[in-house]
Amino acid sequence: MELIDFSNRQNRFIREDDVSDGYIEKMKAVVLSDNLYYPSYHIAPPHGLLNDPNGLYQDNLGIYHIFHQWFPLGTVHGLKSWRHLTTADFVHYSDHGVAVEPNDFMDCCGCYTGMALKDKEDIHFYYTGIRKEKDSLLPSTVHAILKDDRIEKLEVIEDVDFTKTTDNFRDPFVYRSNEKYYMITGGESPDSKGVLLFSEGDNPFEFVHKGMLKLMDYPFGYMLECPNYFEEDAKGVLIFSPQGIESVGKYDFRNVFSVVYAVGEKINTETLEFKHTNFYELDKGFDFYAPQIFKDNQDRQILIGWLGNSKTEYPSDKFLWAHMLTLPREITIINDRISQSPLPEVNNLREYSIDLSETAALEKAFELEFLFENKFTIKIINKEGDFLEIGCDDSRYWLDRSHTTHLFNEQYGQVRYAKKLLRETQTARIFVDHSSIECFFDDGVTVFTGRFYLDGDWALQFSDIMPTCYKMKNIVVSA
Ligand code: FRU
Repeated sequence: MELIDFSNRQNRFIREDDVSDGYIEKMKAVVLSDNLYYPSYHIAPPHGLLNDPNGLYQDNLGIYHIFHQWFPLGTVHGLKSWRHLTTADFVHYSDHGVAVEPNDFMDCCGCYTGMALKDKEDIHFYYTGIRKEKDSLLPSTVHAILKDDRIEKLEVIEDVDFTKTTDNFRDPFVYRSNEKYYMITGGESPDSKGVLLFSEGDNPFEFVHKGMLKLMDYPFGYMLECPNYFEEDAKGVLIFSPQGIESVGKYDFRNVFSVVYAVGEKINTETLEFKHTNFYELDKGFDFYAPQIFKDNQDRQILIGWLGNSKTEYPSDKFLWAHMLTLPREITIINDRISQSPLPEVNNLREYSIDLSETAALEKAFELEFLFENKFTIKIINKEGDFLEIGCDDSRYWLDRSHTTHLFNEQYGQVRYAKKLLRETQTARIFVDHSSIECFFDDGVTVFTGRFYLDGDWALQFSDIMPTCYKMKNIVVSA
């Protein structure tokens, strides 16, 4: 099939209406022909590119609503809309297609990332709309509300102080505290430093810019994206995705962009200080960015991330789909660290346990669970001898994709390390889904998320552990 040429940047603004129905059908057929890399229990796009999770909430009937950034026509960052999925159990999903479309003056060039705020009986959405003025693409914060099961755009919230930020600001996150509403938005200062804009409102409709959040001194790069914030007891927890942080040593900030968090005191909404001692990387793997959090009806703080990263082409792009979402994870705070663990609902995806002494080729969708103390190694290996390795010794963990079939993004290295935190016997969980891996160690404080491309039949080799291996079911996504 003749594909749209996206090297011509103008084509990135092509809309579904501009192509024949046949084009999408042909894309879908190419996606379906991918029986190597397309995930079976992670949310991925039916065609085109998926990035950040958006607008997460659980409604009063218990249904979870998951939106994500989507460019349906190619594996590039083109004209973004929000695709909408719902689920009651994280096993069966309904796909509602595009729910927020770039079809208004304020967002005609993209409905970028945003979130949902449950406020009394209403669901408010705040996202970045990209409009065009002369030759520039300009952001503003769009406020929308759920009405009769549809997202109705209301208006632009003008709350920006352009002496403090350039036109590069986006991804509003609103939280409520003491009957006030606060909005945190990512941005870039006029001298190219990452900043967080802070606004306040007496209601969820109007916000007044108060200034920049005062964070601990740290090299935040040139731009901060996708802030998230929540308060628990006396603590405030801030998560965001900085761009332009230099890597330091072999342990930290190895990817093009990273995600960091800090657990500190609650934001002082008068002085705008966020007092905390340390920033940590939320994930130590290769492909994790722009996560979003929300609290569900059981008061669980749930995180879903983009299992991908910017500025990277992946070997599976040739099948005309790109990226997936992480498994839903519950986050809890342990001292000044975030711990992540797959939601208990993920256990319902276990189909049966695989007998690892059998010689049959390993299913490509599985979970490993095992106890370990000092060290272990696991290899997923094919007949050619290519392999993915996960391991740990006394002092560190590693995820090594340097011996897999198709290497990509090589300029950032093919091994990731994290220092080991727990010394006693602990349980590890590792989730593999065709071309993705999520590893949870140190009670969920150390997490590696990444993509890898290993062709052929797989076998598992391991030492110093006796893992239980579960074949994972497919999630069911119906129209
Ligand atoms: C993060 C991001 C956001 C932006 C969105 C656009 O991946 O760059 O800052 O709103 O993606 O798709």
